[in-house]
Amino acid sequence: MAKTAELRFDGQTIELPIIEGSEGERAIDIGALRSKTGLITLDPGYVNTGSCTSAITFIDGEEGILRYRGYPIEELAEKSTFLECAYLLMYGELPKREVLHAFVDSIRRHTMLHEDFRGFFKALPKDAHPMAACAAAVGALATFYPDSLDPVDERQLEISTHRLIAKLPTLATYAYKHSIGQPFMYPDNRLSYVGNFLHMMFGTPCEDFEIDPVVRKAIDLLLILHADHEQNCSASTVRLVGSSNVNLFASVSSGITALWGPRHGGANQDVIEMLTAIRDEGLSGKEFVERAKSREADAARLTGFGHRVYKNHDPRATVIKKACFEVLEKMGIHSKLLEIAVELEEIALKDEYFVERKLYPNVDFYSGVIYSAIGTPPNMFTAMFAIGRLPGWIAQWMEMHDDKHKIGRPRQVYVGENQRDYVELEDR
Ligand code: ACO
Repeated sequence: MAKTAELRFDGQTIELPIIEGSEGERAIDIGALRSKTGLITLDPGYVNTGSCTSAITFIDGEEGILRYRGYPIEELAEKSTFLECAYLLMYGELPKREVLHAFVDSIRRHTMLHEDFRGFFKALPKDAHPMAACAAAVGALATFYPDSLDPVDERQLEISTHRLIAKLPTLATYAYKHSIGQPFMYPDNRLSYVGNFLHMMFGTPCEDFEIDPVVRKAIDLLLILHADHEQNCSASTVRLVGSSNVNLFASVSSGITALWGPRHGGANQDVIEMLTAIRDEGLSGKEFVERAKSREADAARLTGFGHRVYKNHDPRATVIKKACFEVLEKMGIHSKLLEIAVELEEIALKDEYFVERKLYPNVDFYSGVIYSAIGTPPNMFTAMFAIGRLPGWIAQWMEMHDDKHKIGRPRQVYVGENQRDYVELEDR
């Protein structure tokens, strides 16, 4: 296999090294391109651009494969837990029993927020979107923990990592409680990670809240499935922001903001709103799919369908769809929204428009059906995605720092006005 690629330009031929990944993916290393030719590359949306080498997550979009540190997502979904996957993603190996125990214990002990955070949330409007509140609150963690902001100090990094993973569920549920006017619930460190989240989200100080093991397991599964997805929009944002050597809290806050968008994690809220609208307006699945094919610029897409990388199927969607049926059956829930989702999927998968463009259900298509079945309001769906994605962001951020990175700074091709003289106000 050739180890270099040749580029001919302006009568000159230059050789560019080929980098090969451990799964055979190949890339042209263009690091010397500009210095040798004066050229840069142009790739809006980074459709063909690798921004780094990474040993964390492998995706084969053509085959529908997703692995964390080499372990297939289907196996992790069946056998692992979210905190174990978090450890795996961040530190590279499955932990031994005592290491896992110490990690889980440390996360358990950092769940509480500084009491002044109550004032922080109370200052927000009642209808503040939880993603806006979470991004702001995670950024604000830097103001509460100025002792752990150095991105290259190992001990400071460890403590801020554990604080973040432990506190994000508390922050997200505070945002929710504030929006519905209920008292904030203190974490209960006797509970599991997900159990504690459910307790803070659905419990009240007035009565005991019983955690349904089916729900706890389903949420843990969803967190595992969301835990990392290599160089997606939010992970790339976390890397880019972090490349300035700003602290982890600030970097993750930017990731939460990126995830909020409806073309990224915000799609899970949009899917449930789409399914609800179809139900309430009495539309047929066929009618809606026809609408989603419109080429008008403002036409609604079939949200929860399509992915930049997966062009066969999204393995996470397959696991979630199965879990969706199991959870609803165990809870004795008949969901009209699930019926509509299945109908839309069946129609779209046979439709030439979707087949031609290789558009399949993505991770967000069925997750909202589970979230709403357990009573989660749609505006919290993306916040739950953020809790799941957090270890992935941290792992990507840590890997970038280990790589002795440069600051992220893309170039551009300028297409604006050439130099011109300033025109005085009265002459314009
Ligand atoms: N419904 C209808 N048409 C679609 C859809 C959709 N869900 N997704 C893509 N298309 C069409 C586009 O209109 C385009 O058609 P064209 O070639 O005729 O112009 C073609 O398929 C390719 O779409 P792009 O937007 O160019 O594909 P890209 O890889 O840039 O985008 C994305 C991927 C953003 C996920 C897109 O498929 C989409 O908007 N899906 C709906 C939103 C969604 O579910 N997002 C969650 C993604 S998963 C995640 O981030 C967690």
